[in-house]
Amino acid sequence: MLSDSGTTAMTNRQWAALHEGDEAYGSNHGYFILQEQIRQTFGPPFFELGKTPNAFLFHQGRAAEDALFHALGKTGKNLIVPSNGHFDTTRANIEANGIQALDLFSPELKNPDSREIFKGNMDSERLKKLLAASAARIPLIYLTITNNTGGGQPVSMQNILQTAQAARTHKIPLFLDACRFAENAWFIRQHETGYHTQSIERIVHEMFSYADGFTVSFKKDGLVNMGGGLFLKSGGAFLKKFPKLPNQLLDFQILTEGHPTYGGLPGRDLLALAEGLKTVTRNDYLTHRITQVQKLAKKLNQNGIPALYPAGGHAIYLDMNRFFEDTLLTPADFGGIAFTALLLGQFGHRACELGNFAFGSFNPKTKKESFPEINFVRYAIPRLVYEEQDLNAVAEATQALYEYRHRIPGIRVTYGKELSLRHFKARFEFKKN
Ligand code: F0G
Repeated sequence: MLSDSGTTAMTNRQWAALHEGDEAYGSNHGYFILQEQIRQTFGPPFFELGKTPNAFLFHQGRAAEDALFHALGKTGKNLIVPSNGHFDTTRANIEANGIQALDLFSPELKNPDSREIFKGNMDSERLKKLLAASAARIPLIYLTITNNTGGGQPVSMQNILQTAQAARTHKIPLFLDACRFAENAWFIRQHETGYHTQSIERIVHEMFSYADGFTVSFKKDGLVNMGGGLFLKSGGAFLKKFPKLPNQLLDFQILTEGHPTYGGLPGRDLLALAEGLKTVTRNDYLTHRITQVQKLAKKLNQNGIPALYPAGGHAIYLDMNRFFEDTLLTPADFGGIAFTALLLGQFGHRACELGNFAFGSFNPKTKKESFPEINFVRYAIPRLVYEEQDLNAVAEATQALYEYRHRIPGIRVTYGKELSLRHFKARFEFKKN
């Protein structure tokens, strides 16, 4: 459960598609099949083979982010990219290019009593204030659907529309970080007035009709083990604002990923992706997948464990501040790291700390840690991999550690607390109680 990314079990149709792979260096036939599928899934304006290239394949999401922000970083100074919640590599790519990455989480996310479904929304009020004060510094507004850093929570159609309208008023392009677009559409269909009788495909089209472009890691809702892309809407605000970027992006892609028609991926993977995009928008598939996650969240909640509820589409988020609130651990003891270590060592389940350690930082000058707004441990559920009894075992292990929480020791960071992206690199040991 370290990640739901690239951990998908592919369907028999996807495995069959691999055998049809065309590994030509240029213009392999899978590229054109994928083009057609992208047009069908997200809308024709996102993949046109016109004079201006507007669809760029990359081997994974962060490579697409790298290309986008590498180019955008050169377009101005003191730039800000606001989001409903930047993913860690997205933030890192933005910051690496001298741009400020700003999270505008919904206030509902921090309210433990809230039963709001769309806790992934952008905080519209804070966005409005930011636009009024600093519109000229904002090259684009980003919406992550679903909001992975923000508890994996979905974003409502109303919020997408409101954000698009605010963006349009200031002539700023709206971008989606679209990794879990189909799961997001399922929540809209299930919970937003007027959508229950619409197909997932139609809801996805409406979501993307408000966007001027998107980055995506297909390792999530592409149902593949590797793949990503950057897509710019033909005739959209992004291409109007940055007409020179497509050529720069193409150069970057050729230098770093390969020929534009394979973008760092084997030809066979393009076919598996085209096939995966057909399955992922099936309502029965999504209901199976998301119900699995929700059942686990419900079980944990019934036992008093502070898992964000209702759960989002791909993961359980345990609120570590509440988990340890009646214990002696302080934030600098990194209880979330201790918990994940014990869950792995004692029970064999691998979870991911996405909180005080992953999103916090150590200042070597003041020798002080600063902590993020939210402090989660995430159980990401791979797609089409687990059965109910697997997840029941996870619930039992969590329960056992919750009962033991007063005896869970803090953690000492033995290496790397001052490093960038430290959660990928650090080493720990338990403090002796
Ligand atoms: N954006 C979001 C919202 C993501 O969740 C991820 C990856 C990326 C971008 C980057 O995509 O991995 O293909 O480079 N999330 C994984 C996770 C790693 O575990 O949540 P990538």
